[in-house]
Amino acid sequence: MQYHYIVGQTPLDEEEKRGLIPSLITRGELDEWEEENILIAREWILRRQTLSRLDLINEEMLINLHKRMFDNVWRWAGRYRQSDKNIGVRYVEIPQELHVLLDDARYWMEHQTFSIPELATRLHHRLVKIHLFPNGNGRHARLIADALVAKHEESPLTWGGGDLSRPEELRQRYIASLRAADCGDYGALVAFATAY
Ligand SMILES: Nc1ncnc2c1ncn2[C@@H]1O[C@H](COP(=O)(O)OP(=O)(O)O)[C@@H](O)[C@H]1O
Ligand SMILES: [Mg+2]
Repeated sequence: MQYHYIVGQTPLDEEEKRGLIPSLITRGELDEWEEENILIAREWILRRQTLSRLDLINEEMLINLHKRMFDNVWRWAGRYRQSDKNIGVRYVEIPQELHVLLDDARYWMEHQTFSIPELATRLHHRLVKIHLFPNGNGRHARLIADALVAKHEESPLTWGGGDLSRPEELRQRYIASLRAADCGDYGALVAFATAY
């Protein structure tokens, strides 16, 4: 299996590659398996009426969601990184950093610090910045943001209105706006995520 990485992606280490469940050959096939798996998780989280807003800002939920998104593809689905990457905090700091983020996000919600689309976008950025998992962080953190916005019956986030898995102009803009958010400037990312 040949892995090709595009801008803003985290390469897998050998141990993580061995976690691949299907015996696939091409990158295209891997993308398809992941996409099918993710669709099942998307249906699950967007349709579950019984989930409350705060249920979505919760460690178990984040782990469960990643597991559901990738459990047919990666044996480490729903398990935190066990190695350091070019993006993200040191792996030993993941649980602590996540708790800080979830406390912040609950505070934002309780005090209505931001509009819901902005709250979801900030949560998204902080999640990918921590980089909980070996892979799938971008898609996972977009889906939880989508679920949060849906729960509040706001218009769906658009994330640039195209396919962010291709290394083209749209993804470049997405990554550039994440980098601006790394420096505390969320304007471009919120605009990117919400523009119609
Ligand atoms: N400078 C950055 N700051 C914050 N997040 C970033 C940065 N660069 C990349 N990312 C995020 O990391 C994601 C890539 O991580 P990865 O685990 O491979 O997710 P996926 O497999 O879903 O694309 C990107 O989609 C983006 O969300
Ligand atoms: Mg990836």
